[in-house]
Amino acid sequence: MPKIEKIIFATKNKGKVREISEILKFMDIPVLTMEEAGIEVEIVENGKSFEENALIKAKSVHAVSGGLVLADDSGLEIDYLNKEPGIYSARYMGENTSYHEKNMNLIGRLEGVPDDKRTARFVCAVAAVFPDGTHKVVRATMEGRIGYKEAGSNGFGYDPIFILPKYGVTTAELAPEVKNQESHRGKALRLMGKEIMDYEDSDNK
Ligand code: IMP
Repeated sequence: MPKIEKIIFATKNKGKVREISEILKFMDIPVLTMEEAGIEVEIVENGKSFEENALIKAKSVHAVSGGLVLADDSGLEIDYLNKEPGIYSARYMGENTSYHEKNMNLIGRLEGVPDDKRTARFVCAVAAVFPDGTHKVVRATMEGRIGYKEAGSNGFGYDPIFILPKYGVTTAELAPEVKNQESHRGKALRLMGKEIMDYEDSDNK
């Protein structure tokens, strides 16, 4: 059976690429960013769910590159804020607003809200478009709560305000390998890893 020789990951976010390469190491297939694969496409992320957006990104790149393309769409859902910022996590308060400002804004909107109502989760959907054009989408979450101040300098985005109860610290305070073990993206990518191995074992290439 021919093996898949490379994965193109449809993202430009460097923080994510670092995490993804680390998580997918077990597959022994090189992961290329769009830039590394020499691909430039305008992606219109207009889906209504994490799953739809992940699939839109993977399909847009696959249309140009062929091969195996993965894409993810992820974000933070804060229960007290009706699951905001949700699918708009990257765009919340504008793409060019710093995460320090976004984080301080969210903490401000939760002023006076007690611990038990500060529940939140990171969600990640991962989509794959396979060489034969078929696709799969998987989803995973990491449950936690929003802290009262920023803490930690690992990770990216909303990590400094997201407390993982099991460890009692923010995901920005965790070592990268611990975050990857627990994270929405780690779990979703490992699920997708299994789908890729199933594809390699199937006959539909
Ligand atoms: P995407 O690139 O459209 O998937 O946007 C995801 C956005 O959600 C990121 O830019 C972050 O704002 C947020 N996000 C997703 N996963 C994480 C994480 O693991 N830590 C911190 N923020 C995250």
